Amino acid sequence: MNFETICVSPEDELNFSAAVRALQEGEVVGMPTETVYGLGANALDPEAVKKIYEAKGRPSDNPLIVHVASFDMIDPLVSEITPVAKVLMEAFMPGPITIIMKKSHFIPDIVSAGLDTVGIRFPVHPVAQKLIDMCGLPIAAPSANLSGSPSPTKAEHVMKDMHGRIPYVVDGGECQVGLESTVVDATGEWPVVLRPGAITIEDMEQVLESSGFRNPKETLSSGRASDSSESGNPAALILEGMAAGADPIGSANSGNYTVADDETPRAPGMKYRHYAPSCPVRIIGDKTGDDFDNYFVYYKQEIMEALLAENTPVGLFVGEEIAENLKILFANKNEEIIYYIYGDSEDVEAASHHLFDGLRTLDEIHVKMIIAPAFPEKGLGIAYMNRLLKAASESDAPVAQKTDRKIMFVCSGNTCRSPMAEAICRSIFRSTGPHHMIEDPETEATLEVTSAGTFAEKGVEFTKYTVDLAGYEYEEDLTGRTSQVVTDELIADQDLVLCMTADHSKYLRFKYPDMGDRIFSLQELIDHYAIPNLSGDVTDPYGFEYLVYMDTAKQLDTIIRELLPEILKNWGMN
Ligand code: TXA
Ligand code: MG
Repeated sequence: MNFETICVSPEDELNFSAAVRALQEGEVVGMPTETVYGLGANALDPEAVKKIYEAKGRPSDNPLIVHVASFDMIDPLVSEITPVAKVLMEAFMPGPITIIMKKSHFIPDIVSAGLDTVGIRFPVHPVAQKLIDMCGLPIAAPSANLSGSPSPTKAEHVMKDMHGRIPYVVDGGECQVGLESTVVDATGEWPVVLRPGAITIEDMEQVLESSGFRNPKETLSSGRASDSSESGNPAALILEGMAAGADPIGSANSGNYTVADDETPRAPGMKYRHYAPSCPVRIIGDKTGDDFDNYFVYYKQEIMEALLAENTPVGLFVGEEIAENLKILFANKNEEIIYYIYGDSEDVEAASHHLFDGLRTLDEIHVKMIIAPAFPEKGLGIAYMNRLLKAASESDAPVAQKTDRKIMFVCSGNTCRSPMAEAICRSIFRSTGPHHMIEDPETEATLEVTSAGTFAEKGVEFTKYTVDLAGYEYEEDLTGRTSQVVTDELIADQDLVLCMTADHSKYLRFKYPDMGDRIFSLQELIDHYAIPNLSGDVTDPYGFEYLVYMDTAKQLDTIIRELLPEILKNWGMN
């Protein structure tokens, strides 16, 4: 990995052909798309794909998207195109969408990260199309940033991150969208959005409904609706359709799903930093965006505070009119205030288009803080806020390790499986101690274990067999305990959320994208730690006799006994 990286203009036939040849020969090439730049390699060649990870500086634990330049190229890559996938393909391809389908045997494991699905993307960018077309190969490509910086939206960003690491970067100009593609799982009867993007949930719903598809949610009783179903939230619509449409227990869908999140490793408590400037990011305004008129005042307040605290220079990601007024107000503070103007203040497309460049640019100037506006969480605003919140939460994240840890087990109703898991986990932790933090041998680490349900009714007593079993077998007293629902506050407090099935984990990751790297199903964690001969999907014993409960407990006991040491090791507790 020591290249004289060449930045190629698409008009430069000679170098362009050389870039094509490099791809064909198993090298990695930076390429433009309408969303962000990608790091492409031959998707059918595991050795070539390996080089992507080397260039990017991240481990190969995340599935890659496969890029094509025609519909014909898709067929051999997938084993099934569901009716929903077909409609989405016809409506939105080529374009800024990635559609997840069941993969064919042509897709190497290193591309799919061991999943049985593959994300297919047909970019609309002419240079991307030309490159793929000339190669005649499907191209696997993640975003072309180094692990830890925002996705690149200009060739110069890629040059900066990848210089010396790859032979060519093809310059296709500034990416039009500026945020990564919408990732949508279309393996079921209704799509599930794993990452919001420029193709919005509303766009997809509209097309599907006009093609005669119905959100299965509408045909099911609403009795199981969780607290996610705030009316008017389009994300909740799709989500609910997914959650209620699929049987959360033992459904065919219980595979090893990845996190709906960029560069999120499937390891608990270990975070890659993504989109994270090295300074804090402050978001002004609220997600309703109704009070754009007041944004000038909010900027002003933040700036005054920064000036007072000498927390300058402060970087503003800001709309033009607001910037003009601020420049008048703070006329003598040119050194302390750095403006990055994205366009009209209320133009969410412009803000999205410039977001990553804005974060990069301001960060490179070493501002002490970045202030950016909230946009209403609808349409493209959902994707914009998703990326901005990530930048804000990551950059503000405390560096220090906590000395205690919290695990929450999750099932649907929180009366049988998850309370049992809770009791068993506590008991195992107790009996295999003492546990110390490696960093500080004096500190005895504590583990708090709780449980909750995705669709729980609050305050339902744990079932009798659960309480009996916890008491007899594990000396854990659950008497009088009642069910609780997974709430925003509860989940935000956890270091690790362990779900009984992949449907639970998938659902929670969608609902809490910022928590993505802390939410797993037992099976996903088993796969992550590559523990052999262990089945992690735990079915619901509710309504069965005591013997069935004992089987469930035995399964949970086996799983947790294997997983807990790995989890603790990962946290530096041994
Ligand atoms: O706009 C984009 O999608 C860009 C350009 C280059 O095409 N690519 C991109 O790739 O953003 P990457 O690797 O940075 O993000 C892909 C996301 C990851 O969060 C990954 O986990 C998810 O898509 N993903 C890919 N294949 C998947 C699959 N089979 N199942 C679930 N998630 C998948
Ligand atoms: Mg990425």
